[in-house]
Amino acid sequence: MRIDVVTIFPGYLAPLDEAIVGRARRAGLLDVRVHDLRGWASGVHKAVDDSPYGGGPGMLMTAPVWGAALDEVTGSGDTVPRLLVPTPAGAPLTQERVAGWAREPWLVLACGRYEGIDARVLSDARRRMPVEEVSLGDYVLAGGEVAALVVVEAVSRLVPGVLGNPASAELDSFSDGLLEAPAYTRPERWRDLDVPDVLRGGNHAVVDRWRRDRSLERTAAVRPDLLDALLARHGADAFD
Ligand code: ADE
Repeated sequence: MRIDVVTIFPGYLAPLDEAIVGRARRAGLLDVRVHDLRGWASGVHKAVDDSPYGGGPGMLMTAPVWGAALDEVTGSGDTVPRLLVPTPAGAPLTQERVAGWAREPWLVLACGRYEGIDARVLSDARRRMPVEEVSLGDYVLAGGEVAALVVVEAVSRLVPGVLGNPASAELDSFSDGLLEAPAYTRPERWRDLDVPDVLRGGNHAVVDRWRRDRSLERTAAVRPDLLDALLARHGADAFD
């Protein structure tokens, strides 16, 4: 899978050389390319921003710079990529969206800074490729780079071959719409706290039931909205 990230802070994406994503890149499973937006800026100052029409605080990233960058990056392969744009104004990031993107051959992430990107950049891109805006949550970051890191990591671990044990992705929180049950490893007793007996008993059916119950309990306590969503989608069968 190919992933391009366009940013004015390429150094922000340095963590993509580390851990699971770094290893997958070195193994040739992921082709991640980070581009400096300023390479498409002109003039002595290489400006990428300007003040907004209609007034208001802050600066906007300009259409000519982003247009040139996206033309070159998105035109450099033999398919059409999906363009992802992190912004607090996007639809929330979910495991379902991540799983869909993990099946794509090519993603391009456009990281905005300041007050965002001139709206015509996405209107224009939509004429040639699928475009999705994505939010990490209801808070405002200084730019899209951290969100791009999150998207790349979440997508990468679902790309076949990237995780040593693909079952770990299937057991994740959210893959069945619930939060994961608490988990334990050795030692059996630590600071007077014991691993629950049922997990040491070796009865897989009983362990599965126990994990499912703890998942439901935790989800009801912390994320009742997830239970509501499951109920709306599957009815009471969701909890069998
Ligand atoms: N850029 C700034 N804030 C953001 C957020 N909450 N999610 C995604 N991108 C952002």
